[in-house]
Amino acid sequence: MLTRIDHLGIACRDLDAAIARYQSVFGLTVASIEVNEVQGVREAMLEVSGSPAGHSYVQLLEPLRPDTPVGRFLARRGEGLHHVGYGVTDLTAALAAIGATGVRLIDERPRHGSMGAAIAFLHPADLGGVLTELVQARQVGAQS
Ligand code: CO
Repeated sequence: MLTRIDHLGIACRDLDAAIARYQSVFGLTVASIEVNEVQGVREAMLEVSGSPAGHSYVQLLEPLRPDTPVGRFLARRGEGLHHVGYGVTDLTAALAAIGATGVRLIDERPRHGSMGAAIAFLHPADLGGVLTELVQARQVGAQS
């Protein structure tokens, strides 16, 4: 069901400083910078690796406001790892299969994620405290 680790979501207070850190320490390059108003974040995807199975990224997340999920996370826990995103080939089928195991779905249906992907979050309380995201990457040549 899971095809790869798509990204690690890392909460930060200053996106530009976080990008500079990952560029200078690891030599990563920025694949995209987007504002997602629904999720209340400004975020950057930095590519770690690519393969026929897809790409893997570090996703840096800066909250747009304190009263957002990432803003509340920063207030409670400080900067650090926020969630893990796994690649899937069929997000709707994966949600149905995972929901059938009893894991609660934060998103019952796919919604829009970074770089045209379809995403959905799973409840951390049912997964050992790990906020988990499923990512179906945009197909090359597909309409966004
Ligand atoms: Co994510």
